[in-house]
Amino acid sequence: MSDNQKTEKSRVSTAIILAAGKGTRMASPLPKVLHPVCGVPMIQRVIQACQEAGVQQIRVVVGHGAQLVRSVVEPLGVQTFVQSNQAGTGDAVRAAKVEDLHGDVMILNGDHPLIRAQDLIQFRQEFRDSRADVAIVSCEMNPDNAFGRIVRHNGAVRAIVEVKDASSDTMKIREVNTGIYLLQAETLQDYLPRLTNRNSKGEYYLTDLISMAVEDQCRVSAIRAKPAVAFGVNTQLELAKANRILFRQKAKSLMESGVLMLDPWSARIEPSVEIASGAVIHGAVHLKGQTKIGAFTSIEPNCMLSDCEVGEAVTVRAFSYLEKCKIANRASIGPFARLRPETEIGENAHVGNFVEMKKVKFGAGAKAGHLTYLGDAEVGSETNIGCGTITCNYATDHKKYKTKIGNRVFVGSDTQFVAPVEIGDDAIIASGSTVTENVPARALAIARARQVNKENFNPPPLPVEALDSEDN
Ligand code: UD1
Ligand code: MG
Repeated sequence: MSDNQKTEKSRVSTAIILAAGKGTRMASPLPKVLHPVCGVPMIQRVIQACQEAGVQQIRVVVGHGAQLVRSVVEPLGVQTFVQSNQAGTGDAVRAAKVEDLHGDVMILNGDHPLIRAQDLIQFRQEFRDSRADVAIVSCEMNPDNAFGRIVRHNGAVRAIVEVKDASSDTMKIREVNTGIYLLQAETLQDYLPRLTNRNSKGEYYLTDLISMAVEDQCRVSAIRAKPAVAFGVNTQLELAKANRILFRQKAKSLMESGVLMLDPWSARIEPSVEIASGAVIHGAVHLKGQTKIGAFTSIEPNCMLSDCEVGEAVTVRAFSYLEKCKIANRASIGPFARLRPETEIGENAHVGNFVEMKKVKFGAGAKAGHLTYLGDAEVGSETNIGCGTITCNYATDHKKYKTKIGNRVFVGSDTQFVAPVEIGDDAIIASGSTVTENVPARALAIARARQVNKENFNPPPLPVEALDSEDN
């Protein structure tokens, strides 16, 4: 951010975000603005851009699915205003009770999830520099689009004409309205009550404010922006495109910072994820939320990591699914591992294929190579968990109980620990044991039935000739 941008930041006062529309073309029961883009509801992305741009007060106009939308946006520190009948963008701004506002107001759409703080800061700066009363943010587009056309007269902005009200000549205009406006609160207070609904949609168009202001000799300017600024989500396809654009931007910025990406086009890494330079990210990974990945760590294809802290030089092999867990340096995980919340894997530890862990502290250098479930457990350092080990943590009283296994314990294959149970350091558990009692340090526990061999139990098969004989 330049010094100029920082100064501008402190001057932006109010943003009004329009989010009451039905979003009919989404064909979804979820209100449009709550559809997630890279894991975050799109309205939240718009709010965060405003907050990062230093907007002091944010007003969100809600309507369709108001209760649900409020429950998502109010915790972000914004005010909400209900537009009970969606009678157009002008009516929506009226619902935001602009009478008590002062200073600059920025109006924007809640379904433009790609808007960035730096764009908003730049628009604000240009608005001030132009000393205009009203500024529209416009961009150039090929004629086949549904955006309002910016009509100019002798180069000066004259009006915005909606597609439904446009003549074929007007339709050819390439400069369109992105739906972002900047103006003084007083200008808004002046013109909003004067909007009418005399148009083909019978709606109160916010865009009519432009021609009204021009007629009154107000200074109306257009701030030219890149088409990306106009990108709004109206359909599921556009939602998918928004996701793809953000995932690609993230992949590009990671590569610029020195992350090795083997197939950046298929990696889905949310913007909030942090990855250190030197990490290797294969294709088709999905990295979400507050995930952090250290240097020289490799994440193989088809892994999903959500809110995980992964140290340095860790290997997460293909098809592993990790949620809210911590992996220390040089550990190796997977393939096909599942680590559930509150699991911590120690340095140099190994978690192999088809191992599931939940709420486990797994010590440094410990190993669970194959086919194992550990839940509500502590496993000491250098302990070896044999194939097919299970902690029986869930009891008939519907409560969870803990298994504590010490350091350097050797757990033979196919062992069940019936929790609560504790195993001392350096103990050995014989293969096939069902451990129901604590095992002292250095002891050998054998908790299985002794083998019995019943001699001649299975007689040898009859010779083939006997089967063929006519006596049978
Ligand atoms: C609007 C502009 C158009 C511009 C386009 C940019 C008008 C009349 N037209 O058209 O010039 O090119 O945005 O995307 O303003 N909303 C409400 N309440 C309502 C109606 C809409 O809150 O009663 C909200 C919607 O949820 C949406 C935003 O306002 O977030 C824009 O509404 P939409 O119906 O998409 O307007 P467009 O027809 O796209
Ligand atoms: Mg729209």
